[in-house]
Amino acid sequence: MKKIVVLLLLAGLAGFWALAADVPAGKEVLKLQAKMGTVTFKHKEHATRVGDCKTCHHKQQEGATPRACSECHDKKVVKDEAPKLKNALHKTCGDCHAAKQEAGEKAGPLTAMKAKQCKKCHVK
Ligand code: HEC
Ligand code: HEC
Ligand code: HEC
Ligand code: HEC
Repeated sequence: MKKIVVLLLLAGLAGFWALAADVPAGKEVLKLQAKMGTVTFKHKEHATRVGDCKTCHHKQQEGATPRACSECHDKKVVKDEAPKLKNALHKTCGDCHAAKQEAGEKAGPLTAMKAKQCKKCHVK
């Protein structure tokens, strides 16, 4: 009986450490530069909220540190079929905010496609 309790505790701890993978120090808040105005992105808060790095870092390899989107998504051209950075980010950010809004949950700046909402992300 005791053995089982210890094993369960160990399994719980392993689960805890697996979840504890976090955004790197100094990257908790990202200032994404754009001519439209800088986007202040609460990276760590989003990671906690979302629970899985892969929700955004869709090419992350198991156990590896994710890479910046801009390593594959170019600012100007579609490269190796990866859409331009702006379109990739607008889709990732906007789709989730829109889905949350539709579900009646807290939704952040909603969909990037609604003109009035640009300035909720882009601040000069
Ligand atoms: C809601 C979306 C989202 C989630 C969730 C997320 N990230 Fe990020 N992450 C980003 C964006 C956007 C960037 C900036 C990409 C760029 O500048 O090209 C980024 C950049 C990074 C970078 C590169 C930093 C640099 O400057 O080189 C690392 C490392 C990283 N994230 C790790 C993580 C880890 C680890 C998690 C999970 C604990 C995580 N991210 C969760 C969106 C997210
Ligand atoms: C290792 C390269 C790489 C990295 C890093 C990367 N992507 Fe991608 N991404 C691609 C490629 C290639 C595609 C084209 C379709 C595919 O292969 O999935 C793509 C497609 C996409 C799409 C379009 C998907 C669709 O259904 O239309 C979105 C949105 C996207 N990426 C967002 C991001 C975001 C946000 C980040 C950073 C948090 C990121 N990507 C990091 C390579 C990358
Ligand atoms: C998987 C879901 C998801 C993704 C992806 C996502 N967000 Fe959010 N975001 C949220 C939710 C949920 C909130 C609202 C949180 C609240 O009000 O408590 C939010 C709130 C925000 C806010 C309001 C201030 C704040 O940080 O709380 C900004 C700005 C924001 N998001 C920017 C972004 C940007 C930029 C991206 C893409 C790089 C992004 N979000 C991607 C879910 C997401
Ligand atoms: C959810 C947050 C969010 C909203 C809302 C949003 N954007 Fe963005 N936008 C971003 C992010 C993140 C980037 C990528 C910044 C980078 O290049 O690293 C970006 C990039 C851009 C770029 C290309 C970079 C540049 O230098 O300007 C343009 C143009 C742009 N956005 C226009 C718009 C317009 C127009 C709207 C309103 C219809 C809008 N955005 C709404 C987050 C947002």
